[in-house]
Amino acid sequence: MARAQDAITFADIGQTFTTRTGPLTALSGVDIAIKRHEFVAVLGPSGCGKSTLLRLTAGLVKPTAGTVSVFGMPVTQPRDDVGIVFQQATLFPWATVEDNVAFPAKHMRGRISKQDREVAQDVIADYKVPLGRPRDENTLRATEIQDLATELRDLLIAKETV
Ligand SMILES: Nc1ncnc2c1ncn2[C@@H]1O[C@H](COP(=O)(O)OP(=O)(O)O)[C@@H](O)[C@H]1O
Ligand SMILES: [Mg+2]
Repeated sequence: MARAQDAITFADIGQTFTTRTGPLTALSGVDIAIKRHEFVAVLGPSGCGKSTLLRLTAGLVKPTAGTVSVFGMPVTQPRDDVGIVFQQATLFPWATVEDNVAFPAKHMRGRISKQDREVAQDVIADYKVPLGRPRDENTLRATEIQDLATELRDLLIAKETV
């Protein structure tokens, strides 16, 4: 049962995927309550369901059983206030650095305004990242670009909540 002081709760979570070879149960009967300011590490062998737990928390996947709650509210759709830092930087390789950095603006408002573009250019200029298309083979750069996108998202959220 989700309580308001819990930051994240998994209540009797089950996740069964339909695969070509039949149903695959990734999680079953998972009950976890994580309090505000608690730092939790989930450890386990590859395929035990760690990433699925993260995707459930972010609302990217719907559980086949049970309820995930964040601050007492059931997660029913992707949440803007839950971020996932992936093991590898994930960029849109076909888009320019500027469009990658400005993507949070597009996601939050449906389009990139002239003002959003200017903020994105300022943030990029601070980091001295070369413009153009991000190069896949350059992981360091990819990570930097993702940091920029996160910074821009924080700026946008700050502007909206001020
Ligand atoms: N979308 C999906 N469709 C089918 N099977 C999936 C899907 N996502 C994850 N799985 C399976 O669920 C299990 C748990 O996966 P995952 O959460 O990625 O594990 P971990 O992150 O601990 O390595 C694995 O067997 C994986 O193959
Ligand atoms: Mg994983």
